Amino acid sequence: MEEDKNMEQNKAKKHEGDPGKAVMKLDRDFQIGEIDKRIYGSFIEHIGRAVYGGIYDPGHPLADDCGFRRDVIELTRELQVPIVRYPGGNFVSGYNWEDGIGPKDKRPKRTELAWFAVENNQMGTDEFCEWSRRAGTDVMMAVNLGTRGADAARNLVEYCNFSSGTYWSDLRIQNGYKEPHNVRLWNLGNEMDGPWQIGHKTAQEYGRLASETAKVMKWVDPTIELVACGSSNSGMDTCYDWETTVLDHAYDFVDYISMHQYYGNQEDDTPNFLANTMDMDHFIENIIATCDYIQAKKRSKKKINISFDEWNVWYHAFPENEKAVKWQEGPSFNEDIYNFEDALLVGGMLISLLRHANRVKVACQAQLVNVIAPIMTENGGRIWKQTIYYPYLHASVYGRGTALDVLVDSPKYDSKDFTDVPILDAVAVESEEKDYLTIFALNKGMQDLVTDCDLRDYPGCHVEEMLVYTSPDLKLSNSADCPDRVVPHTSSDYKLEDGRLTVKLAAYSWNVIRIRL
Ligand code: AHR
Repeated sequence: MEEDKNMEQNKAKKHEGDPGKAVMKLDRDFQIGEIDKRIYGSFIEHIGRAVYGGIYDPGHPLADDCGFRRDVIELTRELQVPIVRYPGGNFVSGYNWEDGIGPKDKRPKRTELAWFAVENNQMGTDEFCEWSRRAGTDVMMAVNLGTRGADAARNLVEYCNFSSGTYWSDLRIQNGYKEPHNVRLWNLGNEMDGPWQIGHKTAQEYGRLASETAKVMKWVDPTIELVACGSSNSGMDTCYDWETTVLDHAYDFVDYISMHQYYGNQEDDTPNFLANTMDMDHFIENIIATCDYIQAKKRSKKKINISFDEWNVWYHAFPENEKAVKWQEGPSFNEDIYNFEDALLVGGMLISLLRHANRVKVACQAQLVNVIAPIMTENGGRIWKQTIYYPYLHASVYGRGTALDVLVDSPKYDSKDFTDVPILDAVAVESEEKDYLTIFALNKGMQDLVTDCDLRDYPGCHVEEMLVYTSPDLKLSNSADCPDRVVPHTSSDYKLEDGRLTVKLAAYSWNVIRIRL
């Protein structure tokens, strides 16, 4: 017995010393769970040029009859974004939704205290629901629990979802929307644990308010689903205590708890930056444990799932933000220009979401256009795809069906904040029709990895396509002038024989291996 253990340890050591090799083990039975397509959601907030200059630019040559940019809609459709969260974010905590309905020339301009801008209210609830229809996506609506509460929230549900014959539903009809918007998924406020939030609350205060608001919203429309605010990020001092208290109050009234997480790379430490997927895995697992603890405490049959409704890389624009001029309409703000390294971490974050597909049912990359976004536009001008666009596209288009765990045996490294970081990270998805197996694999290391993958559980399969995203320089970005500087390409660096796939995963690469079953 002792001898066997020693042999295993020696093998592991030897493997650690063989930096260019890895093994992936795949099995039909390694099922994590059905993927809810809403994990490929996005986010549009009234911030910077996300709305004004992003989705809405009435003077643009490609604007449609509502003033929506057709090219933005086209890319949103290409990404197959299933749901978009709206209207914030921090913005929602000071928002009067009634300002954004009815004749546009009667809508007030307001000081917007989340981002110190002027909100002209030319886009509002009806326009956003209309935009979503045109973009082929659903709406996830947030209500203001910062400065407002149950009354404004239940009125908004009535405005959006009640068919007719009441004050708010008839007002919607009068405003030109005969059919209800049928918004199914709602956020009960945003980041209410954060002192920066307009109307910040303690967990006790928020837990009570969220419960009472949830109760009346569901009384108006019992078919809706509700997300309670979790912690703003894993580094909050109150993280986990917040969820415990909030769920103690709200467990029976809500369906999901939210998670938010952004990662930066201010120290320019690539290994440490890419290792953040481990933080994301731990954060998700700790939130699941917290939800399940309250379930046990309450002897409840119901499970609370996760809405990871803000996630991304975010740091490039911070210095520029310092120079921002207050009280502008649609100012340039938080316009991170992403490099290739950021795209790798975005790929890793998508793998982390898929690895927890049994409990993460909604996730929104923050945000969709211009503000920390995969899509960039010039006001009145060009559009281009950032580096982070591509892993998001691949996961959204090829990552639907059943998520499968991939057992990875790869070299590991230590970084400033993490130990034993596997260089290779992977997850697989069996398509809904069971005709494709897609492996998403991220090589976080500076060496190519020759990787063996046992596919004997899938007799007769063949590789239909392998997409590889690499760059000669981790810091390269795309721009309006050079929109295709860093784009994925197809690769034929693989061999599949007798159910054994050998594939070269290039140094610092995001890989999508599409296997036809
Ligand atoms: O996405 C930008 C901001 O980040 C959101 O408004 C807020 O919820 C988070 O802090």
